[in-house]
Amino acid sequence: MPTASAPGKFILFGEHAVVYGKPAIALAIDLRTEVKAERSSSFKLDGKPMRENRSFYIREIIRRWKGGPVSMEIKAGVPPSSGLGSSAALTVSMLGALRSFNYPAERESIAREAFDVEYTVQGGASPTDTSTSTLGGAVYISEKKESNFRWEMCKNRRFWNVHSIDIPDMSFVVGVTGAHSSTKDMVDRVRRVVSRSPFGKDVIEDIGRIVVEGKRALENGDLVRIGELMKENHELLSLLGVSCEDIERLIRPIKDMVYGAKLTGAGGGGSVIALTDKPEKVREILEDRGECAYIVNIDKDGLIIK
Ligand code: MEV
Repeated sequence: MPTASAPGKFILFGEHAVVYGKPAIALAIDLRTEVKAERSSSFKLDGKPMRENRSFYIREIIRRWKGGPVSMEIKAGVPPSSGLGSSAALTVSMLGALRSFNYPAERESIAREAFDVEYTVQGGASPTDTSTSTLGGAVYISEKKESNFRWEMCKNRRFWNVHSIDIPDMSFVVGVTGAHSSTKDMVDRVRRVVSRSPFGKDVIEDIGRIVVEGKRALENGDLVRIGELMKENHELLSLLGVSCEDIERLIRPIKDMVYGAKLTGAGGGGSVIALTDKPEKVREILEDRGECAYIVNIDKDGLIIK
């Protein structure tokens, strides 16, 4: 019975701007989704008929699957609609499990199909989430090819070069707002801002510059600068209209004791990340306020197929 698992992620720098071909840096985290698949007489998910399933991602994967009926079980370890790459972890692990029926699953082609699935479902996406979930570790997306290049993705004449990069030891706390948001809605919202105003386009450019500086700060192991850039990135995302009170409520009590904090992923709810050298203390402060917070570690494995 093929079993595949893939990690969630958070975006350290560059969400939304990366949809417009700007760079981004994302880190895979130690929260995983696992999918087991077996041949069956009808399509089933967690013992129930597949048609009862409401996930657009799963429907799209099954629509593309030509290998006959399967029964699948999902153990979802990434909180859904939380900005932590739950749909990418699900898509990558499900494709990994399904493809293993026929031939040894190959990472690059899974990352490509997973990106296609997200792009179709969301009506626009970058390959950041799906490539990070497939590769694990830290991933740098850029317009140009650089060292440690893994693969290039292209959609509508836009190109993304995917790289694995080394990062210094860092501790992150993730705070989950509990407010669910749809990536598609948030990507649409930003598209309206960008298409209607030169201001929106300038913000996208500024985010792109922060990512390039952020990469340099990571190479120098300069946690203070990384934190400052996280704050600047957050301000720019707020200008695009993707922050909200649920997010600010989590950032306020910790912002003066961390290197930096920002929303991560699509925004409109979801999660915040904080870079800190006092992860237990930061988690405690959030938990004391009734918030849900995790200390996350970086996942080095990406997609695992057994
Ligand atoms: C979502 O995790 C990140 C976005 O930049 C969308 C994408 O890159 O596909 C908002």
